[in-house]
Amino acid sequence: MPARHEGKFPVTLIPGDGIGPEIVESVLEVLETVGAPFSWEQQVAGMAAMEKYQDPLPQVTLDSIRRTKLALKGPLTTPVGGGYRSANVALRQTFDLYANVRPARTWISGGRYEGVDLVMVRENTEGYYVGFEHYFPIEGDPHAVAIGAGINTRAGCRRIAEFAFDYALRNGRRKITIVHKANILKALTGVFLETVREVGKLYEDKLAIEDRIVDACAMQLVMDPSKFDVLLTTNMFGDILSDLMAGLVGGLGMAPGANIGKDAAIFEAVHGSAPDIAGKGVANPNALLLASCMMLEYVDEHATARRIRAAIKAVLTEDRVHTRDLGGSATTREMTRAIVARLAS
Ligand code: NAI
Ligand code: MG
Repeated sequence: MPARHEGKFPVTLIPGDGIGPEIVESVLEVLETVGAPFSWEQQVAGMAAMEKYQDPLPQVTLDSIRRTKLALKGPLTTPVGGGYRSANVALRQTFDLYANVRPARTWISGGRYEGVDLVMVRENTEGYYVGFEHYFPIEGDPHAVAIGAGINTRAGCRRIAEFAFDYALRNGRRKITIVHKANILKALTGVFLETVREVGKLYEDKLAIEDRIVDACAMQLVMDPSKFDVLLTTNMFGDILSDLMAGLVGGLGMAPGANIGKDAAIFEAVHGSAPDIAGKGVANPNALLLASCMMLEYVDEHATARRIRAAIKAVLTEDRVHTRDLGGSATTREMTRAIVARLAS
């Protein structure tokens, strides 16, 4: 668990790439306004670290997180295809951040659905993200055959199951849906289904537990999200479904995430570095701000997290300050100023 130092929790701050620095600046201003008990150790990763250290995940950054056990991270750009492996995935694996928690809830009414309130709990270190991939060359074509394998372990499935059921109980949730593809990936996702069901037996009297095949689950989420509460799934399905869930509540601009392990936790937005809008000052800072609220809760600063969420709600629904992704025209600065004004009043 992270510890206070002179009253504050030291946190590794990684501004990240693309819109990262813009939204991080906004979040810092809000956290400053509420007097959040954090002190920042700024470090780099991703593209910014490639430029500075020719390494997307430099040792100084890893050492800092190892010390603070807590990080707030802007999105990191990962080149598609060639180039370096994802620094995001490497961070999760280095610190064994096996639980990825991604809530999706309605902030502004009048969207596709009212009152959506879902949480994705995604296994974050195994499955298809282990990086067991390679090409076989044939007759001069270096990419003639591509092979990728996933790995799920009994132990890995058990700990994410225990995390998810405990999370559901602690947070007053009613139901867990186990999402899998055990009809096709019989071993890889079969072991997940089997193990999670087994762990679930200890919780049956307190929680409703059901399971769904991932494709049917995607359809049902789009048709009627109110049928779901907490979803628990493997790494790749969790990545895909959490973006789908963000889409149900108005897009990635309001979707936060936490990566939690035994010895460290990293908080970030679900979205990426958004190169299409980077540098324009129009990004929605709320996904990362909500991630910082999850970090406040992680260190038991619940009241401060509630205050910030209430300010965001008031700004969105009463002041009607909306960034472009929410259908408005407010800039990142205007959104930030509105939230700070609510908090100061
Ligand atoms: P993206 O999430 O960066 O962008 C998808 C779309 O959503 C874009 O149109 C973007 O403008 C919009 N968007 C995202 N965040 C927004 C915000 N806060 N406010 C307003 N609009 C927003 O996904 P994309 O383009 O697939 O990935 C870009 C880069 O980010 C890639 O290099 C990818 O690998 C990386 N990435 C990093 C993640 C992380 O650091 N955890 C997560 C996802 C992607
Ligand atoms: Mg993703």
